[in-house]
Amino acid sequence: MLPKLAVPANRLPLMPDAPADPPRSEVVFSLQDVRREFDDGHVLALRGVNLEIRAGEFVAIIGGSGSGKSTLLSLLGALDTPSSGSIRFQGKEMSEMPDLGEFRARHVGFVFQSFLLLPTLTALENVQVPMFELGWSRAERQRRAGELLQAVGMEHRLDHMPDKLSGGERQRVAIARSLANEPDILLADEPTGNLDSQNSVQIMDLLCRVQREKNTTMILVTHDPSIARLADRVITMKDGQVIADQPADRMAPSSAGSIS
Ligand SMILES: Nc1ncnc2c1ncn2[C@@H]1O[C@H](COP(=O)(O)OP(=O)(O)OP(=O)(O)O)[C@@H](O)[C@H]1O
Ligand SMILES: [Mg+2]
Repeated sequence: MLPKLAVPANRLPLMPDAPADPPRSEVVFSLQDVRREFDDGHVLALRGVNLEIRAGEFVAIIGGSGSGKSTLLSLLGALDTPSSGSIRFQGKEMSEMPDLGEFRARHVGFVFQSFLLLPTLTALENVQVPMFELGWSRAERQRRAGELLQAVGMEHRLDHMPDKLSGGERQRVAIARSLANEPDILLADEPTGNLDSQNSVQIMDLLCRVQREKNTTMILVTHDPSIARLADRVITMKDGQVIADQPADRMAPSSAGSIS
């Protein structure tokens, strides 16, 4: 005889052992019809971008030169503001934020192709630059900068000026600096663009490790399809619009040649 069911049979889940879809993380960025014009509308860098990016995602942005990748990244990091359209961060309209500088200081880390280290500061000092906004004591800044440089394998070059570092080493320092404010958003614009292939692999290993360990939302612009494939998701831009948005494992090998 069958045991008596505590729940009526018609209310039982159909497949109790089937794996459920993993819960989706919160939406961090939500863009609606975002446009960015320059030169009184003569240059249409972004022409109506619609996008959602979720917490902890690693998103690669690819597309030809001039397609609007850096413009989009600048808007996400509040280095620039759209001509029209809406960008929401954690549900809040960014154009209504009273202090975009504070948003950047609290949430965003930047990594650029040209490293952008301050030439007159040592590695240890460069990493402390984003900490000034946060009001930490000097001792706390130095301790934390030392830890970050150790985490990127640069503990032996703390007192070096940028011009005494190799390209790969400079980018390591720049990554340590980008993490100084413990950002939940990491924006990287062609971070391996000035590096040889061996250094590129090492820098990507480092960025991916940081992204995974901290569950950081990472948005990375690249021309390199092998780097884009490391992401969870690849967004392709053309003429200021998103023309494809797909999981990285669906990227066709043949798309490699058409990217840059
Ligand atoms: N400050 C600006 N003033 C005028 N035009 C601009 C400005 N910034 C960008 N543009 C133009 O907007 C378009 C998009 O530029 P963007 O830098 O976003 O391209 P990109 O996809 O990052 O290109 P690349 O791969 O070469 O870095 C380009 O045509 C560029 O010339
Ligand atoms: Mg660019």
